[in-house]
Amino acid sequence: MEAGKLPVKELIRQALDALQYVYAPYSEFSVGAALLAENGAIYQGCNIENAAYTPSNCAERTAFFKAISEGNRDFQAICIVGGRKGIPTEYTAPCGVCRQVMMEFCDPKDFKVILAVDEQHYDIYILEELLPMGFGPANLNE
Ligand code: THU
Repeated sequence: MEAGKLPVKELIRQALDALQYVYAPYSEFSVGAALLAENGAIYQGCNIENAAYTPSNCAERTAFFKAISEGNRDFQAICIVGGRKGIPTEYTAPCGVCRQVMMEFCDPKDFKVILAVDEQHYDIYILEELLPMGFGPANLNE
């Protein structure tokens, strides 16, 4: 992959593709994610709900935890799509918990969050815009 050039359309395709695996019988709201690692690997994620509600996991964290559990901790960008009954009609922004997980592993001034509806309709943010003054690992350093 060309250095510095984000494969935005590919990430949108993969986030949309992840929607087919969503398990969301309670909210009926589907979210798909595609997380791009520094080495070019892409990890897909979907939301996974639970009858007890609180054990539910967001699509973004599914993607992050897949990557981290396989030894990959360096990331460039994540694409997120979502919508009721699996049909994206507007942007699905990451929840606060997922933003905090991003803060743990990503540089807030550099990590890109791509919110998309389809390949033609998307916007790119940096994590710092979505989580201003975030608390992260750097705060615990001396
Ligand atoms: N959800 C995500 O997976 N990611 C988001 O960015 C927002 C919310 C999921 C959690 C739950 O399964 C459903 O969407 C409704 O909140």
